[in-house]
Amino acid sequence: MKQHIDSAPSTPGKFKMEKSPYNRLRLHSSLAKLTFWSLFFLVLIYFFFFKSPSPSSSSSSSSLPSDLSRRSLRTSSYAGPNFEKRVRASAKIRSRTGISVLVTGAAGFVGTHVSAALKRRGDGVVGLDNFNDYYDPSLKRARQALLERSGVYIVEGDINDAVLVSKLFDIVPFTHVMHLAAQAGVRYAMENPGSYVHSNIAGLVSILEVCKNANPQPAIVWASSSSVYGLNTKVPFSEKDRTDQPASLYAATKKAGEEFAHTYNHIYGLSLTGLRFFTVYGPWGRPDMAYFFFTRDILKGKSIPIFEAANHGTVARDFTYIDDIVKGCLGALDTAEKSTGSGGKKKGVAQLRVFNLGNTSPVPVSDLVGILEKLLKVKAKRLVMKLPRNGDVQFTHANISLAEREIGYKPSTDLQTGLKKFVQWYLSYYENGKKAAQ
Ligand SMILES: NC(=O)c1ccc[n+]([C@@H]2O[C@H](COP(=O)([O-])OP(=O)(O)OC[C@H]3O[C@@H](n4cnc5c(N)ncnc54)[C@H](O)[C@@H]3O)[C@@H](O)[C@H]2O)c1
Repeated sequence: MKQHIDSAPSTPGKFKMEKSPYNRLRLHSSLAKLTFWSLFFLVLIYFFFFKSPSPSSSSSSSSLPSDLSRRSLRTSSYAGPNFEKRVRASAKIRSRTGISVLVTGAAGFVGTHVSAALKRRGDGVVGLDNFNDYYDPSLKRARQALLERSGVYIVEGDINDAVLVSKLFDIVPFTHVMHLAAQAGVRYAMENPGSYVHSNIAGLVSILEVCKNANPQPAIVWASSSSVYGLNTKVPFSEKDRTDQPASLYAATKKAGEEFAHTYNHIYGLSLTGLRFFTVYGPWGRPDMAYFFFTRDILKGKSIPIFEAANHGTVARDFTYIDDIVKGCLGALDTAEKSTGSGGKKKGVAQLRVFNLGNTSPVPVSDLVGILEKLLKVKAKRLVMKLPRNGDVQFTHANISLAEREIGYKPSTDLQTGLKKFVQWYLSYYENGKKAAQ
């Protein structure tokens, strides 16, 4: 091989073919090598373009945004008049004061409820979700079918796919983005930290980048979390309290998100509102959350873990019903001021807000189990355990006076009422527990 390269003329135009058998042999071997390398590159290209994993399975992937961008360029379903027609129809505003909203994470628990509520009041809504399998994707598909019936189209794609998200902005000049797509859950962060970085860090920055470049720039309302209060012990949690002691990687990514929000507001004039949700529950909820899997396991006769803190300390949560959260999201969207930048440049000071959206009445987890027992008419097998140090905090309690004042947020559903609605939904969705929730 070396000899062959070394013997090649430095000036290709001066190459003169000689007819000796040795040279014919060399020619054959070069042709064989050329064929081999051509085939090798063809196989590489084939695997790169046709066999790379789909965005929908990227829950555990830590692929870079550029990979996804390249992929979307060849994804024909994102192109063509039919795709654009569906996006436009879904984004059509039907009320005089309506807004057009891109809802990320629309096949998720909160995203489905917010999308449906916006559509009901006449706003234009387009969803975006990668349908990852962090929990049973069939539940996400069922939510998608529900939204489809009310006229909301969910585009299947990843928030890191900047080409796709920009394309959506080319088709619809969204006035607002409701950014709910994220890797949720506190405990799973120890198993798969990369998925949190992928969706909550890279994904958020990717959305902010597209919004900053959009003309006009949309106003953004996005989901932070009560988990940012971490090891804070002052109750109730107020937006002014310290949030620099996260107890989990999930919390750290949400805290980082709040810092990114500050940066994009400061440099590019994006209007940004972060909502710190407190343990949201309700119909179409998330199977990884305690109220959901307690219901499943009580019905199955399986024991359920009830955590207690040191010295038999009570673990309590400020459980917030989904309809109250939806009202908070709509209130935040309706009071969001316009972004002030254009062409990626800030033209003036833009709005930057953070609100707690909780219920202001923490309930011990053992009381939650008591309510479920009554509603399900089944005695739970309680297994009292020490609260593991894997990210969960002992209690959460929201001070919501700021949200009340600024966005008219007023939660009105107590845990008993909200759980009754959840259990009704659960029993009908899973056919009285005959169909197993996963
Ligand atoms: N439910 C709660 O109690 C709660 C509490 C605090 C904060 N939050 C936050 O609220 C938001 C909504 O939560 P939820 O309970 O509806 O969770 P969810 O998991 O049901 O919804 C999130 C959706 O985002 C999608 N998604 C994730 N990564 C994506 C990506 N890279 N690209 C495209 N789609 C992606 C998922 O497929 C899912 O459908 C999240 O940001 C979550 O962190 C929720």
